Amino acid sequence: MTTTATDDRSVRTREAARADLLAVFRIEKASFPQPWPYRAFERFLGEPGFLVADSGEVVGYVLADTTPKSGRPIGHVKDIAVAPFARGQGIGATLLARAIDAMREQKAGSVRLEVRESNEPALGLYRRFGFTHRTTSPGYYADGEDALVLVRDLDG
Ligand SMILES: CC(C)(COP(=O)(O)OP(=O)(O)OC[C@H]1O[C@@H](n2cnc3c(N)ncnc32)[C@H](O)[C@@H]1OP(=O)(O)O)[C@@H](O)C(=O)NCCC(=O)NCCS
Repeated sequence: MTTTATDDRSVRTREAARADLLAVFRIEKASFPQPWPYRAFERFLGEPGFLVADSGEVVGYVLADTTPKSGRPIGHVKDIAVAPFARGQGIGATLLARAIDAMREQKAGSVRLEVRESNEPALGLYRRFGFTHRTTSPGYYADGEDALVLVRDLDG
């Protein structure tokens, strides 16, 4: 469990539960031009890397999982967002750190993710966590924007 001071409130990071899904979906819609559907989140309930930041209300979430591979499993950050009013207070960083911990616990040797090349806040967050550019997926997003594929090693 992780606590972060934001204003006078504390924000707790915990596993997502069914009762959180509506709030998660609202933040998703406020954050992305092509949001995931509600049922996509439902499918990941119980996943150790599906976490919410809770300050009395859900103010952010991260969804990460691991896939078996020959050798070590590989982690994937599939989605992360913080409610617009709660950004810039360290919540995204806390969520990402906890998701990385969860993937480590599942023995992942590395973590990958995709990010829009224009998404400066997210790129700043990932760089701060040691992610580096591995490849570019041209036209990855529905509007034609390229995705940068970033990777971080979890050893050491
Ligand atoms: C990306 C996002 C999750 C960051 O959450 P956040 O709670 O605002 O981030 P934090 O306050 O924890 O900041 C952590 C780091 O992110 C980077 N960052 C955050 N906001 C930034 C901004 N507006 N510009 C540049 N870098 C920024 C910085 O490196 C920051 O570290 P610092 O405070 O030491 O400078 C949030 O902006 C968001 O929800 N964006 C919309 C959804 C999205 O794009 N998700 C990523 C999809 S790949």
